Amino acid sequence: MARDGAAYVCQSCGTVHSKWAGQCTGCGQWNSLVEEVSSRPPGGLTPTKATKARGLAFETLETETAAPPRIVTGVEEFDRVCGGGVVPGSARLLGGDPGVGKSTLLLQVVASAALRGVCCAYISGEEAIEQIRLRAQRMGLALAPVRLAAETALRDIIDGLKREPFQLVIIDSIQTMWSDAFEAGPGSVTQVRAAAGELVRLAKKRNIAVVLVGHVTKDGQIAGPRVVEHMVDAMLSFEGERGYPFRILRSVKNRFGATDEIGVFEMGDIGLREVKNPSALFLNEGGERAAGAAVFAGIEGSRPVLVEFQALVAASAYGTPRRAVVGWDTGRLAMVLAVLEARCGLGFGDRDVYLNVVGGLRITEPAADLAAAAALASSALDTPLPQECVVFGEISLSGDVRPVSRMETRMKEAAKLGFNQALAPAAASEGAPVRVAGVSRLAEAVSRIGDGLWP
Ligand code: TYD
Ligand code: MG
Repeated sequence: MARDGAAYVCQSCGTVHSKWAGQCTGCGQWNSLVEEVSSRPPGGLTPTKATKARGLAFETLETETAAPPRIVTGVEEFDRVCGGGVVPGSARLLGGDPGVGKSTLLLQVVASAALRGVCCAYISGEEAIEQIRLRAQRMGLALAPVRLAAETALRDIIDGLKREPFQLVIIDSIQTMWSDAFEAGPGSVTQVRAAAGELVRLAKKRNIAVVLVGHVTKDGQIAGPRVVEHMVDAMLSFEGERGYPFRILRSVKNRFGATDEIGVFEMGDIGLREVKNPSALFLNEGGERAAGAAVFAGIEGSRPVLVEFQALVAASAYGTPRRAVVGWDTGRLAMVLAVLEARCGLGFGDRDVYLNVVGGLRITEPAADLAAAAALASSALDTPLPQECVVFGEISLSGDVRPVSRMETRMKEAAKLGFNQALAPAAASEGAPVRVAGVSRLAEAVSRIGDGLWP
């Protein structure tokens, strides 16, 4: 029986139910409902003065402020991904696997901002003060005037933040925060949602830029609260492949700027180093380019980035051939394989196909189609592409190669890194800074690779 005012909240998706049930109707998860008891008066809103209609005041879209003012932290890769710095009165969530370097990144961000005169607080619910100090010392940031606190009680945190004119506040992490208005334990959806709600309100009310850290669970969601994602103005994700020192900061949601921006860092023994020119990272170093390798001239956010695609096509030992992809979309691979089969006469039906993007980057641009196809064809035909050749272009189901955005920028970046040739849509040829092997059909590209026909 539901008690008066009690609600049952799914710990997986945050759907609120009025009665307990074995399965959540929102996400279908079993045994995920937990009773949420509020110490506020039950029964929801009682008609008080506040709920009386006051009339709705309409406004115009016009504003005197040209663009939101920004707090520039001085960590350029971070600022750029945020859209030119953080916005006062906004909340953003930084998600990432445990151990990827979220605390390290944000410690560098606050230290840098504090040294530029921004009033900063770093509140940790995970580490002790001494631990953070030691890390700061090792990273050479010990002298930055950051206000540091180790605390998890939300009430004390909000109270403390009201006492000084903070401009930038880091909460590390949202899963450790805990409000005494709810009985649920820290880390539960109830607590995370309550804490995020309070902190977002504080940010808006006092014009503070708040950054919340959120751990990601195994299935890639910010633990529990997809709900927090809706509350914040922007969401960043910090990613890294195991075994690589590179870390990629990606903007997933941004009410104040573009969302396809990435920032690249390298984790070293004194913290994260900004990588201003990431192209070199994602190219396989040294030696001849082997059959099955193709360098994609991509655009990530506002920047051109060169990334190597590697493909291996091999006879299949089992009945069902394998398709394995790292760093690219499986659906897209299936499409490119189908077009290679149907339009170019390359058969993959009895062969295993592996495709890998070097360096741990995840590519989502359609412009990568031709690079993937070139890598696959090169491996299938056992013929390498020219050493100094980059590839880009979108492939349609009909087998056409279509022009993509910012072709000149892509080729300029390639030229800068010593490439002198591009396998690209025919339209890229005009005024190109490198020699272009222009193709308008995928079949032309495949025969160029097979016959070694290059300009
Ligand atoms: P951390 O920022 O604590 O990760 P998160 O907050 O995302 O859980 O980073 C932890 C990892 O980073 C840890 O495995 C050690 C590594 N690290 C370095 O390699 N060099 C450094 O200078 C620092 C501070 C951390
Ligand atoms: Mg941490």
